[in-house]
Amino acid sequence: MLKFPPNFIFGTATAGHQIEGDNVNSDWWHYENMGKLPYKSGKTCNHWNLYRQDIELMQSLGYNAYRFSIEWARIFPKEGKIDRKALQRYREIINLLNEKGIIPMVTLHHFTLPLWFLEKGGFAKEENLKHWEDYVKALKDILNLKLIATFNEPMVYVVAGYLSGEWPPFKKAPRIASRVAANILKAHAIAYEILHKEHKVGIVKNIPIFLSASRRNDDLKAARRADNMFNFDFLDAIWNGEYKGIIGKYEVPESDLDFIGVNYYTAYKVRHSYNPLKFFLDAKPAEMGERRTDMGWSVYPEGIYKAVEKMSRYKKPIYITENGIATGNDEWRISFIIRHLQYLYRAIKDGYNVKGYFYWSFMDNFEWDKGFAPRFGLVEINYENFQRKPRRSAYVYGEISKEKEIKD
Ligand code: NOJ
Repeated sequence: MLKFPPNFIFGTATAGHQIEGDNVNSDWWHYENMGKLPYKSGKTCNHWNLYRQDIELMQSLGYNAYRFSIEWARIFPKEGKIDRKALQRYREIINLLNEKGIIPMVTLHHFTLPLWFLEKGGFAKEENLKHWEDYVKALKDILNLKLIATFNEPMVYVVAGYLSGEWPPFKKAPRIASRVAANILKAHAIAYEILHKEHKVGIVKNIPIFLSASRRNDDLKAARRADNMFNFDFLDAIWNGEYKGIIGKYEVPESDLDFIGVNYYTAYKVRHSYNPLKFFLDAKPAEMGERRTDMGWSVYPEGIYKAVEKMSRYKKPIYITENGIATGNDEWRISFIIRHLQYLYRAIKDGYNVKGYFYWSFMDNFEWDKGFAPRFGLVEINYENFQRKPRRSAYVYGEISKEKEIKD
């Protein structure tokens, strides 16, 4: 039996655009409905209306914590115009979680932007950060909680939006990508300054494990480069005052983190290439002798230990803010969770400061440019009638959360 520390938290995670529905003033909504993205989020899980039911379900399943995000496009649907009703709805969600004994963690930016902000140049323009500051200040009164993540997976946002060009705003421009990352670091520093006296403020970083495609020296070097470029350079900059971009160097304000959120899913194999960035963009899911998930990802439970080990160099408390699997086979999901938690347990025993684990996701939801097909949820969603149906994994994870232990 593996017994986790008594104050360890077991939660689930979601994000606004993926579950709420009708996020009509966001950039994603705009491009989905223009046909520039392959799927439309539409009403998705209709959580904006069914939040009460969802939180009650979480409580009845026994989960201790819940990570979700606030949609900036709801708070500021137009430039300079605050929607008080939307603020009030998020206040209700936070208060309800507190009331039900579920620890809330809120993410301020989870991939989407208000369309008007993107049309002004988004995070590619430093002068736009004053709008980010207005947004963070507007939230101050409703943030009746401790844990705040400023950004979700900033490097995924940068790569998908500005390097591979798969997500809004569909750019393939390494220099702009680097500038966006630098401006996000500045935005983090602004939010940290405003919030850290009353809250624990962190950032959520996706940490894939980059393995070398062979034992050849140049492949080994390429894997290390990918690790630095994607995993470390961004985080180092938070304390260094300088961001080593994908191209160029950028001065950024020195800031801090009260915790590091780690999203861990999978491992990639990296091969050397003389073509700059191809070594990174062409990284392939590593073969691990287990079939691929419905995202095409490999399953590598040991990687969660490695991700924690990598992040321990920053000497900050660590939360696993996401870990999960897209599959129609719920028994596989159960074994995925247990195997990852076994490695996490080992990390804690080895002295790493890990304080919680959030499964992605509480329920099935809109998986960005992959639409509704990938099923990550502990709770199944029927998108015709919005019915929620907990899978067996939801109950198994509930037992783990309640007892804070994994039985043999
Ligand atoms: C990480 C992202 O934060 C989340 O939005 C996404 O749905 C999951 N990974 C699964 O791909």
